[in-house]
Amino acid sequence: MPTIVFASPKGGAGKSTSAVVLATELARRGAEVVVIDADPNRPVSRWASRPGCPKTLTVLAETTEASIIDDIEAAAARVPFVIVDLEGTASMTVAYAISRADLVIVPTQGSQLDAAEAAKAIRLIRQQERAFGRRILYAVLLTRTSAAIRPRTLQHIREEMARNDVPVFGTQMHEREAFRAIFSFGGPLQGLNVSQSFGKTESY
Ligand SMILES: Nc1ncnc2c1ncn2[C@@H]1O[C@H](COP(=O)(O)OP(=O)(O)OP(=O)(O)O)[C@@H](O)[C@H]1O
Ligand SMILES: [Mg+2]
Repeated sequence: MPTIVFASPKGGAGKSTSAVVLATELARRGAEVVVIDADPNRPVSRWASRPGCPKTLTVLAETTEASIIDDIEAAAARVPFVIVDLEGTASMTVAYAISRADLVIVPTQGSQLDAAEAAKAIRLIRQQERAFGRRILYAVLLTRTSAAIRPRTLQHIREEMARNDVPVFGTQMHEREAFRAIFSFGGPLQGLNVSQSFGKTESY
C-alpha cells in the first residue's frame, strides 16, 4: 500500500504541516495510517503527544538512518497508508526514504529561491530512480500561498515547472492560521474551535 514521503531540503517548506494534514484527513475517513517521524526534531511526535490524535493514526518516532528502510517496509506491510516526514536537509535517511516511496510530495513556497530548493529534491528523486531502477512518482505541492491573490512570481514558477515536466498539484496549501494551530492545540483541523482556527481579536 502507498508510502508517501514528504521531502524538501528547504527548512520550513511545509513538509510536517502537509504530512500531518494528509495523515489526519486519511485517518478521519477511517484509514489506518502510520506516520514515520524521521526528522530528529520530531515535530510530528510532538503534535501527536497533544490531545486529539485520531485513533487510527500511529506515529513512529524512533526511526534512524539505519532503521528507516525496515521501518517503512514493516509499516507498509501492516497498514494501508505510510507517510514519512523528513528533515529539511540532505541526508542518507532522506535518500533511503525516497528510495522506498510510491509518491514523493515536494512542498514548496512560491518564491524562486524556494523553487530552486525543490529542484534539488527532484534531482535527488531522479537519482534514486536510477540507482534503484524503479519509477518514483513525485509532485510539487505549493504551500503558504495566498487564497486571495495569484502573484506573478507563482505563475512564473508554475510555467517553469510545466516546461520542465515537473508535476504540480492543482490543490495548494494556502496560508492559514489553522495549519499552524494544529501544532499548538493537537488533533486534526476539524478539532479546532473558531478562535483556535482564526485567532482571537484582542480588545484593549
Ligand atoms: N499552509 C500554511 N499556513 C500557515 N502556516 C504554515 C503553513 N505551512 C506551514 N506553516 C508554518 O510554517 C512553518 C514551517 O512549516 P513546517 O514545519 O511544516 O515546514 P517543514 O518543511 O516541515 O520544516 P523543517 O524543514 O524545519 O522540518 C511552521 O511554523 C508552520 O506552522
Ligand atoms: Mg518538518
